[in-house]
Amino acid sequence: MGGAGMSQPAVVCERVEKSFGSGEQRLRVLRGIDLTANYGEMTFLLGPSGSGKTTLLSIIAGILRADGGTVRVLDRDLARLRNGEGAKFRLENLGFVFQQFNLIPALTAAENAAVPLLAAGARRKPAVERARALLADLGMGHRADVLPSKLSGGEQQRVAFARALIQDPRLVICDEPTSALDGAAGRHVMELLRNVAVSPQRAVVVVTHDFRILEFADRIAEIDDGVIQKIETRKRESS
Ligand SMILES: Nc1ncnc2c1ncn2[C@@H]1O[C@H](COP(=O)(O)OP(=O)(O)OP(=O)(O)O)[C@@H](O)[C@H]1O
Ligand SMILES: [Mg+2]
Repeated sequence: MGGAGMSQPAVVCERVEKSFGSGEQRLRVLRGIDLTANYGEMTFLLGPSGSGKTTLLSIIAGILRADGGTVRVLDRDLARLRNGEGAKFRLENLGFVFQQFNLIPALTAAENAAVPLLAAGARRKPAVERARALLADLGMGHRADVLPSKLSGGEQQRVAFARALIQDPRLVICDEPTSALDGAAGRHVMELLRNVAVSPQRAVVVVTHDFRILEFADRIAEIDDGVIQKIETRKRESS
């Protein structure tokens, strides 16, 4: 466990197991997942519907607990985080874009995007201003004061993006981040993510079915039958 901070990959999953239900209903979803995500890289996870991609992301995010194996995230062993530490660790270090956007209906787009800052104790006005700027970057400047119910799916997804990135998290985890976006908006969002991932202290993990964005991947891991079947490493083209 040498103390050299960045010596390890950002995410290390070893023999990770997860089942749901019990008895005859028991479903073994993850059957020994080995996966690493390096700092400075975009790691993509592909696999059929129901193969456990969201389950694995939830485990990496510390939202679900693995039944077996080890999960190290940003040099912390998730199983060793004490009660309450997990929430603080997530808030300070991780940004998520969930498959369901999970926006708060009573808050505007900018307020939703500002939630992580507010939860960390930031003052409201600068937090919302920061959110507004990030939304403008995402082509959403004119929609910043609108409630989620008035936003299209793609607009909601961009609010979820702004919320994920607003704290400059060290690890960004995205579940189908471009599912509701057209080609141009999808590329734009991936370019923002790449800017996060080019930093040697940061990493991005993306689950996707969207072949249009695979060109952004540094590593592509394919999951099926509860294990990683294949890992492909790509050389990043300089752009
Ligand atoms: N909380 C839960 N309780 C019971 N079963 C669950 C639970 N969460 C997921 N599952 C089951 O585990 C399997 C994997 O689900 P998961 O959501 O991880 O798949 P996925 O790869 O993300 O699929 P998709 O591409 O459709 O999003 C599915 O069969 C699902 O029904
Ligand atoms: Mg899923």
